[in-house]
Amino acid sequence: MQDVLRTIWILLPAYTPNNFAVLFGGGTPIDMGKNFIDGKRILGDGKTIRGFVAGVVGGMLVAHAQLLIERSFGFNVYSSLPYLQFLQLVFLLSLGAMTGDALGSFIKRRFGVERGKCFPILDQLTFLLVAYAFASLSKAFKTLFTLKIMLIGIVITPLLHLGVNVIAYILKLKEVPW
Ligand code: CTP
Ligand code: MG
Repeated sequence: MQDVLRTIWILLPAYTPNNFAVLFGGGTPIDMGKNFIDGKRILGDGKTIRGFVAGVVGGMLVAHAQLLIERSFGFNVYSSLPYLQFLQLVFLLSLGAMTGDALGSFIKRRFGVERGKCFPILDQLTFLLVAYAFASLSKAFKTLFTLKIMLIGIVITPLLHLGVNVIAYILKLKEVPW
């Protein structure tokens, strides 16, 4: 359990950006409304510039809140890193998550899946894999992202996604439990 909680903690700056995009998104779509060569939208209206930026900024704000929480509760995960290494890592995690989110939409559109329709596994893992890839460019990556942590992340992320959606359904925040 220790490892699972640690994984969730480490991945929060990648998990939270999409929620900020939902809250603050809107306006000009990243693809500027343009179609790809297959005649379908490149990304679709669900991926906006404002949502993307809000997501990256939001993920970094969450990471800073985590630093404060670690300091006041006396545990060291992100706070074990020099500040600039922390900043580089969480920026790449949040940027990777939003880029992966857009890549997921790009793939969905190529398969003819409409904006907002779900595409299991792809919806839940593309953002994580791209977040890993981006974060791997950071100096501190190896300090926190062991193979074990990364594998736990891949296994628990779809389960967490489902769990959160079922709770949102029970609380009547969502119309369907997925
Ligand atoms: N959002 C945004 N900009 C982003 C990502 C998300 O504005 N870069 C907002 C949009 O309002 C979007 C909502 O967050 O509808 C939910 O995000 P998501 O589920 O990722 O998008 P979908 O609408 O489901 O579109 P897609 O099928 O392309 O995933
Ligand atoms: Mg969606």
